[in-house]
Formats: sequence, structure tokens, C-alpha cells
Amino acid sequence: MYRFRRLRRDERIRSMMQETRLHPKDLMYPVFVIEGVDIRNPVASMPGVFQYSVDRLDEILAQVKEAGIGGVMLFGIPQHKDLQGSGAYAVDGVTQRAVRFIKEKYPQIYIVVDVCLCEYTSHGHCGMVCRDEILNDETLPYLVRMAVSLVEAGADMVAPSDMMDGRIAAIRDGLDQAGFTQTPIMAYSAKFASAYYGPFREAAHSAPGFGDRKSYQMDCANGQEALREIAADIEEGADIVMVKPALAYLDVLKEAALTVARPLAVYNVSGEYAMVKAAADKGWIDERRIVTENLTAMKRAGAKIIITYHALDAVRWIE
Ligand code: PBG
Ligand code: ZN
Repeated sequence: MYRFRRLRRDERIRSMMQETRLHPKDLMYPVFVIEGVDIRNPVASMPGVFQYSVDRLDEILAQVKEAGIGGVMLFGIPQHKDLQGSGAYAVDGVTQRAVRFIKEKYPQIYIVVDVCLCEYTSHGHCGMVCRDEILNDETLPYLVRMAVSLVEAGADMVAPSDMMDGRIAAIRDGLDQAGFTQTPIMAYSAKFASAYYGPFREAAHSAPGFGDRKSYQMDCANGQEALREIAADIEEGADIVMVKPALAYLDVLKEAALTVARPLAVYNVSGEYAMVKAAADKGWIDERRIVTENLTAMKRAGAKIIITYHALDAVRWIE
């Protein structure tokens, strides 16, 4: 009889047989930067996550640097919002200032910036709005401006999360024309309209003021369409393609990993984090083991990069 258990007998042989191993460089940590001074606001639905003003970013960046993770994903929260999301592409916008600060004081940290207008628009949608419609083509120039402005400030990579059609081509073209031909784009390609983003919208003050995001983000029922979105973004010039959220969409991630010729990222989103933290807080689950298991599953399914709020804890937990 073949006995699988021979290779599971003790920890020494088990660790030799392990197919997937997490490494700090697999992980990327989201950071929320808020306008103002001397701020470190806890996000209620995301225990352990804070909004920092630029002058207090050191508190988190020191930990990021020490952890040796892949990089940070920046989200800005401006004081002023308007119909065009002008804070998103202002030279002295909150995210631009944060990027300059990190570039100068922590040159070893790789800076990825989320490119989307929802934190900056008064209506909270990811694009321009006309009556109750979210406009596509009219939004593209604003996204391009935002991306170029953040790269001018020093961002190493841009990550468009808006889900407008044609944005990867537009941003690639805009970056190239501005001379940033070497700046990669990580496309939120298969981004589903998900209830799992709830806590993020509290953290980033980006909840839509009316309606929902279903006319631009994907239906959670659609796996084949996700692969078409990914293919389209690659065609338009995406360097890395993302599936988001993570756990309920590992089938999409796996299928992409088997068929797609680009590195894959997965976003372990705010609601996924909140559920783990809440259950752990109640003593119902073992947080360390659950987090390690979840992140390992994401890597096993094919993710090269895992964007996760657990990143700083996880590096302490993966030996
Ligand atoms: C902005 C954006 C969102 C997230 C990342 N970028 C929210 C949304 O689309 O409403 C979600 C991240 C998370 O939930 O952790 N478009
Ligand atoms: Zn958005």
C-alpha cells in the first residue's frame, strides 16, 4: 500500500515536502494617508489599521522597512472633495506629498499608488458622473493625470482600480508621453463589485454617495468575464494583473495563473481582514494560523503578490 503519511511523519520531513512557502517579499501593505497634521486615526472596522497624516507616517513606515516586505500600496484621503476629484492630481495633493516623503526618507520602500478617483470625488464614484451615470471615456484623462502626477512625485508603480474600460491603454500612453516608459502598471483587472470592500470605504472615506459600483465593477457570478478583463488589460499593456477580492475568487486567480502570461497579484481586502480580526477577537479562531493558511492559499492558487492588511503580522508569523 502506498502510504502518503510517510512524508507527513514529523515536522522535518513535512517542511521538506512543503510546496508553497510564504516570503515577506510576497506581501504588500496598504497604507492610508490623510490630510492634516498629527493624525493617527484608528479604523473601527479594521483593528490594527490607522489613517496617518504625512508627518506621522514614520510610525508605520519604520515597521514596513523593518518587515522587509515587497512594498506599500498608498491610498490618499483628501480634505477637499469635488466633482472632478481635483485632489487626485494636485501637485501638493495628500498622496503626492506622501509619495515625496516616502521617496526621500525611505528610498528602499517600493511605492505603489492606487489610481482611482473615488476618495477625491464629492459623489464618491470612481469616475466622472452625469446625472446617475458613471461616465467612462470622460474619466480616462483624469486617471491619466492622476497617474502621471503620482509618478512625477516619485511613485514606483501605479495600480488603477477604477474599472473604466480602456484605462490601462490610456495610462500607459500618458506615462510614456511623460517620459515614464519604465514605470510598470499593476491593473486591478478582475475587480468584483463586492460587499467585502465595506470596511475600506470607512477607512478611505470613499463610499459612493448614490447607487453602487455595479455598472463598472464586475458581477461576482462571472468567472469567464474575469479572464476576458485580464486578457484585455494585458493587451492594453498591464505589467501585473490583479484579482480582487481574494478568498471568494481563488478559482479566478487559479485559472488566470494557468493561462495568463503576466505575474498575478491578489488583493486580500478589508472585509476579509475584518472578519478574521472579529472572530479572532472573540477567541473563536486562531488568528495566526488562519492568516497563514489564507495567505498560503492565495500563493498556492497563483499569486505572485499578495496585498494584505495582515502583512506586518504575517512576516512575524512566517518563521
Ligand atoms: C478604490 C478602491 C477600493 C478598494 C481598493 N481601491 C474600494 C472600492 O472599489 O470601493 C478596496 C480595498 C479593500 O476593500 O481593502 N476604487
Ligand atoms: Zn474607486
